Order: sequence, then C-alpha cells, then structure tokens
Amino acid sequence: MSRYRCRSCASEYALDERAWRCRCGGVFDLLFEPADDAFAELDGQPWSLWRYRKALPFSRSATGWEQVTLGEGATPLVPGGENLLFKLDFLMPSLSFKDRGSVVLVAKAAELGVKRLVADSSGNAGTSIAAYATRAGIEAEVFVPAATSEKKVAQLRGYGATVRRVEGTRADAAAAAIDRVETTGSFYASHVYNPLFHQGTKTFAFELWEQLGRSLPHTVVLPAGNGTLLVGASLGFAELVAAGLTERLPRLVAVQAERCAPLARAWRLEHHLEAGDVAPGPPQETAAEGIAIAEPPRLRQMLEIVDQSDGEVVTASEDGIAEARRELAARGIDVEPTAAAAYAGWREWTGAKGAPSTVIALTGAGLKSPFAPTAG
Ligand SMILES: Cc1ncc(COP(=O)(O)O)c(C=O)c1O
Ligand SMILES: [Zn+2]
Repeated sequence: MSRYRCRSCASEYALDERAWRCRCGGVFDLLFEPADDAFAELDGQPWSLWRYRKALPFSRSATGWEQVTLGEGATPLVPGGENLLFKLDFLMPSLSFKDRGSVVLVAKAAELGVKRLVADSSGNAGTSIAAYATRAGIEAEVFVPAATSEKKVAQLRGYGATVRRVEGTRADAAAAAIDRVETTGSFYASHVYNPLFHQGTKTFAFELWEQLGRSLPHTVVLPAGNGTLLVGASLGFAELVAAGLTERLPRLVAVQAERCAPLARAWRLEHHLEAGDVAPGPPQETAAEGIAIAEPPRLRQMLEIVDQSDGEVVTASEDGIAEARRELAARGIDVEPTAAAAYAGWREWTGAKGAPSTVIALTGAGLKSPFAPTAG
C-alpha cells in the first residue's frame, strides 16, 4: 500500500489516516513506484489514462475506478507551427486537464470509504472533483473565490456540489475549506496538497511519450499556479526515465501571468536575474484566474522541478494572453485565458520562432469564460 511522506521531515502516514499535510506543516509526496511491467503491453489497453493503471497506485485487482472513470485522458496532440505541437488537454469530461488528477484522487477516496469531501479551487479543479465525486456517490462541498467565472460556478452546481463562494482571494477560499475540513472531519480532496492528484496528472507525460512514437519533445510549456501539471508531468517523465524508456527529461517551461507571478519572481531571484516584467508588490488581478495563486504551498518543489529539467519560468502579459486566446480561436482552438497564457508565455519568451521541438499544454476550454475579457 502506498503512503504519504512529508517533504520536510520525512514522517510517513497511511492514506486512511486522512492527513492532508504533515504535523510539521510540510507537504506530502506519495511513496509509490509503478509496477516493473507498467509500460509493457499497452496495445489493447483502454484509450484513456487508465491504460497506464499499472503505473497508478491501485492494486492489480482493484476495479473501483471502473465505476468512476469517464474516459478521461488520451487527448489529441495537434500541429501548432514549426516544431510546435499543442496537447489539447481541455478535451476532457469536465473540460479541463484537472480530470486527470481528480479521477485518481476521487477513485482512491471512494476506495477509502469517503462519503463527504471538501475541495477549494479557482474553478476548474473544483468542477472536476465535483464531477467525479457525484459519479462516485460522494457528496462534494467546494469553496471558490467569489470572483470565479459564473460558468464554472454553474457547472459546479450542475454536478450537484454545494458551492461556497468566499469573498477575497484564492487563499481565503482555501482557508475556509481547511476550516471546514477541521470542523467536520470531511475528506480534504485537495489538488494542491494531496499527491494522489499528481499520480493522475503524470499520465500527461506518458501520453506524450506514446503519441510521439515513444520519444519525448525537447521542451514542454505549461501554465503553473499550484503546479499540479508541472509536478505531475515531471513525475511522469522521471518514471519513464526510471523504466529505461527514455534518457532525457524534457525542459519544463512554466508560465505564469505577469500580474501574479510568485514562482517567476522566486526563480529569477534564485538565478540572480532582474525581476524584469514581474509586477512588484502584491499580486494583481489577471484574466488567467487558474494560475492566480499568490502563495503556492509547493513553490519550493516547483522551483526544484524547473531547475532539474534545466527549464525556465516565464511570464505572460494580459494583452499577450488576450491576443493568444484570439489567435488560438482563429485556428479552431478556443481555450480559456489561463490556458492561452501558456501559448502567450511561449510567444513572449521565444518570439515564436527558432525553438526546438516543443509541446504546449492547452489546459482549459474557452466555453468556461467570456471571450477575450481583456481585449480592448
Ligand atoms: C485551465 C487551467 N490551466 C492551468 C491551471 C494551473 O494548474 P496548477 O494550479 O495546478 O498549476 C489551472 C488551475 O486551475 C487551470 O484551471
Ligand atoms: Zn513533516
């Protein structure tokens, strides 16, 4: 059975203790290694992320996930330009990449006998958790900042979740959720703290490897707020390396909105670079609501991951995000601003030319937010 291990003090916890972080305040990793034959015989496996189930923390005989899955994963990889591919990771049951992590977290919660869960979110993680919770017969209560897009709130209600809109920031919504967990004993289905979520998002890496003929791109660009895709993708790439299936990790380029860029700021400081266009002072509002995370609890881990991959943290301006969204839509791909930020960051970073083979993760569907809210 897999266990949680604190990244700060190495204390271990059984999953059924339902701890969401260590007594010392540290965040958890999951102690788990994929089966030796995890990537053998993929032919004939389901065309969803469950084709990699031997690399996921479920016992071989476990079948509970079959009642929870909605066929998530297996998203298209389409041409985006010279040496450039887009991974359409918003083509998921709840319309964002979060379904990768949610299905694994909720299937495991169901296995642990959870009946009620609490989540907090800027929108997509909450809607995704709510979708799988209702499918698994688990009651969901989701805390979101009051400013969250109406369509995400409507989606949450559609899935039957109890929605708690919290005045203030994303951090205020998290604090309200944690308070609820502590007073009610509900399971905290946190995509930020619970490393089971990364077990799901790591399948992004496995899919890329399979879709590229069992090889990896030079660079992967992804939006990062709390880092569920960044952490998960890097874990997936590391597991492919450990299995001897590839030699090199792709360079991971994390994109933040210029107006809320704690990771970019920390990365530039660490590398003795100028703050550049990262806004000084407190974070400001950005159209990229999914990555507007002022104090990500896994900041240090995210920095380590970017550095281990020889990657970078780059930023996208508000105009760049709006323009990137329009340009993608004009090419038939309508994504929400948070997802467009990845493309915008890449364009601002490379000048949109001359980069080696690159995959950009497009993580959230356009239908979730009004079109081009920052367009003039
Ligand atoms: C569409 C979209 N992309 C990217 C992200 C960033 O994910 P994370 O905060 O886990 O880094 C989010 C988070 O909500 C999102 O909704
Ligand atoms: Zn600890």
